[in-house]
Amino acid sequence: MNRISSDPFSADHDAVHAAASAQTVAEVNVEEAFGIDELFFSRTDGRGVIEAYNEIFVRVAGFAGSELQGAPHKIIRHSEMPKAVFWLLWNGLKQGSPVGAYVKNKTKEGKYYWVFAIASPIEGGGYLSVRLKPSSPLLDGVQDLYREALEAEKAEDLSPEDSALRLMERIKELGFPTYAMFQAHAIHQEFEARRVAMHKPQFADLSNINTISDNAAKLRHELNLLSEKFHNAALLTANMKIFAAKLPVGRSTINEIAKNYDLMLRDIQNHLKTLHVEEEYEGLWDASRDQNSFFMLCASHLMEELCVNFEKEGCLGGKTSKSEETRTLNRLRNDYKKQSIEAVLHGIQSALTIQRRTEFLRRMILGLSTIRIACRVEAGMLRDSAKGLDNIVGRLDGFHDEVEAHLAVIQQAVNAILKGVDRSITGQPEAA
Ligand SMILES: Cc1cc2nc3c(=O)[nH]c(=O)nc-3n(C[C@H](O)[C@H](O)[C@H](O)COP(=O)(O)O)c2cc1C
Repeated sequence: MNRISSDPFSADHDAVHAAASAQTVAEVNVEEAFGIDELFFSRTDGRGVIEAYNEIFVRVAGFAGSELQGAPHKIIRHSEMPKAVFWLLWNGLKQGSPVGAYVKNKTKEGKYYWVFAIASPIEGGGYLSVRLKPSSPLLDGVQDLYREALEAEKAEDLSPEDSALRLMERIKELGFPTYAMFQAHAIHQEFEARRVAMHKPQFADLSNINTISDNAAKLRHELNLLSEKFHNAALLTANMKIFAAKLPVGRSTINEIAKNYDLMLRDIQNHLKTLHVEEEYEGLWDASRDQNSFFMLCASHLMEELCVNFEKEGCLGGKTSKSEETRTLNRLRNDYKKQSIEAVLHGIQSALTIQRRTEFLRRMILGLSTIRIACRVEAGMLRDSAKGLDNIVGRLDGFHDEVEAHLAVIQQAVNAILKGVDRSITGQPEAA
């Protein structure tokens, strides 16, 4: 991947030597410290050769700027990193997707430091990676996954791709159907843990999306329960029809009521199906709208912070000019901002669709309830000649009470979603 020039006077050649000498430094189990508030970045060409960086990267990595400039990024590779992670990194980048990953790196002295890196393709070619210090509890679990992957790579001589696919199986078992879903969760966890550690207030856009996402999950859960209830309700009308068949009088009325009730039940079941569509994901880089919003919002806030910090940093060494680098960072920040706004707008649109459809569901259930009342009236009129019908009506009443209870929870979730949408539009934060 990293084909470097063999010209001994080129910067690439120096880079090879720097990389080679770094690789021979023995690793020591000592952590290189850096602040939770520090963000650092590097920019590479299309092959992963470093072209630019900020001062914090130089300090933490322990190399001189001249050693980093033109060196393959592998110069800071730690031997405990499984190949699987870099396969995922390159796979995502080559497909044009931003990639968030935990990476253990090695300093020039052989010390280690963990980062959560967000690498992205950039306009004009090449990639940029911004890194923060991971501080969420997720890192412990990730270390276990990486250890397992590394052992398997060594024991079974796995190819990077096979190892990555196996790592993905483990990530799926943890509840993330794709790598994009995992990285969105991870960036959100790291962003929030860092914010709390830095005593910063919540970001309004993130907390509003959080409210919308939590309540959408609650809504999906309730709709699932409601679907089950409606599925089982078919038994009630079947009983009603059997009962009607035995009646000496009023048979056709009860039958008609049962038939209408059945039709309405089926309509409601079909409507419920349109309300709750299971999300399906394809490949590694597909994520739900909510998770995509989280990723984009966190990435755009981090890029914003990096841009502000970079303004205050001293001049860069090496080949790049600070103004050129500032432009690249600002472009990426704007790109993330644009994508996060689009993702939030999508979220708002689907929230409004759900609201309209639940309103329609409510009206349909009201219609169903009217048929139930007709049945109750009929049972009252038939009284002695239709003993047992009361029992069926009682079960219908019980079913409707349960449905009402679900509708109340659904309505609460919808109201909370609408409030979140409202706050997203007006830019207000979630009430404390
Ligand atoms: C933008 C960008 C940032 C990268 N950052 C790192 C990094 O921090 N640490 C690292 O070991 N590799 C990083 N890489 C990946 C390296 O290019 C390389 O794939 C990796 O070190 C594994 O090298 P190997 O497959 O030759 O062992 C980065 C690549 C890109 C494009």
